[in-house]
Amino acid sequence: MVYNRYIGIIFSMALILLITGGCSEDSTPVNQENKLNFKISVFSDPHYFAPELFAEGDALENNLRGSRKMLMESEAILKSAISRVKSINSQIVLIPGDLTKDGEKLSHQKFADNIRELKNSGKKVYVIPGNHDVANPESKSYIGVNVENVESVTPAEFRQIYADFGYNEALYKDENSLSYVAEPIEGLWIIAMDACRYNENTDRHTVGGKFNNATLNWIYDRIKEGKSKGKLMIGMNHHGVLEHFTGQKSNPVTTDYVIDDYRSISEEFAKNGLNFVFTGHFHANDIVSANYDKNFIYDIETGSLVTYPVPIRTVEVINSEQMNISTELIDNVDYQSIGSDFQVYAYNYLKNDLSDFVEDILVSQFSLQESVAAQFAPIGINAFVAHYAGDEVISKEAVDLINEYKGNNNITIQLLSATIQTLYTDMNPEDNNLRINMMTGAVIR
Ligand SMILES: [Fe+2]
Repeated sequence: MVYNRYIGIIFSMALILLITGGCSEDSTPVNQENKLNFKISVFSDPHYFAPELFAEGDALENNLRGSRKMLMESEAILKSAISRVKSINSQIVLIPGDLTKDGEKLSHQKFADNIRELKNSGKKVYVIPGNHDVANPESKSYIGVNVENVESVTPAEFRQIYADFGYNEALYKDENSLSYVAEPIEGLWIIAMDACRYNENTDRHTVGGKFNNATLNWIYDRIKEGKSKGKLMIGMNHHGVLEHFTGQKSNPVTTDYVIDDYRSISEEFAKNGLNFVFTGHFHANDIVSANYDKNFIYDIETGSLVTYPVPIRTVEVINSEQMNISTELIDNVDYQSIGSDFQVYAYNYLKNDLSDFVEDILVSQFSLQESVAAQFAPIGINAFVAHYAGDEVISKEAVDLINEYKGNNNITIQLLSATIQTLYTDMNPEDNNLRINMMTGAVIR
């Protein structure tokens, strides 16, 4: 329901395939004189929901409405993603959180069973929790018309369930969070960070991300140590460490998608050699970067496995000097009759999910005239869909609409226009396929 509120409020308030490699041949990383060569696969926000916990019916339908998430399909999508990742010659897999729908213990156990297949194929798999994953009071089953509470997990149980996916092999584990440091290849440190606020959960889970002081100091100490030892460091955090569109943090509606104090934290990361952080959370495939004097940092957000366009990233590091990021979209899912039309299915799912109620909200909660709401709703939805997919280009319809209502006195219309504009304004660099000079942060074109 959080996402219902999120999408609702947003509108209310404002109202490739260049996968390198392909066949799994040689998956041995190479370390020559500290020049590292390796590949990472990334997928995020799989929101796995154990099929035992739901059966089609009003209960689930009401819960899913406006959530953007193909949860009934989550197992089939995960299996498709795993089989695709297995065929890529990556040595490492990163999954930056929201592993489950709402932290159900059974979903965690079954998700861990699924990703064990990647581990068994010789890859090192690392997870961290997302806001939905730990001590979640919204952990429920939805059978027919019945909603019932089901067991969630404590932080200790999370660590135990994912022992083979980071925690057991960690060089360091933070006492105050589920953060850890692992070294999958000699010379490479994965800085897995947990900014989730499950300790503050009440009858709802906490969406925003904030490092407690002890954890933040622990992370700073680890990256300073990593830098002094000459390690190449790659970070992973559920929440964004930079804004992915102008005003994301200052807008009360989207503030929870970027960690608190992100400016000073990302500057400290950049200064101490943590220049690349893989994130998720907003379900958008979007890359942004920031420069602080001579230091730089990239926030590489990967979209969700349960939201269009269902991306997987492959990240190839060459000689510790160049990072090639490519994106491919899952296009084949064995669920009911979806098959190879999965991209069409996912697109329609998202559009229909949002279309069903956005217009209503604009009229009922924000008192827009029906004719005006009917103009804004579809273009607003298109702006979201475009942002999720990345490399968004503003549409002529959106420009025309914004121009048509320029100078309008209605505050809702002003906010809607501004939101559409900012969602459609893709901040540099490109989002899906990108090559980066890892020494300078410059994009290689
Ligand atoms: Fe999510």
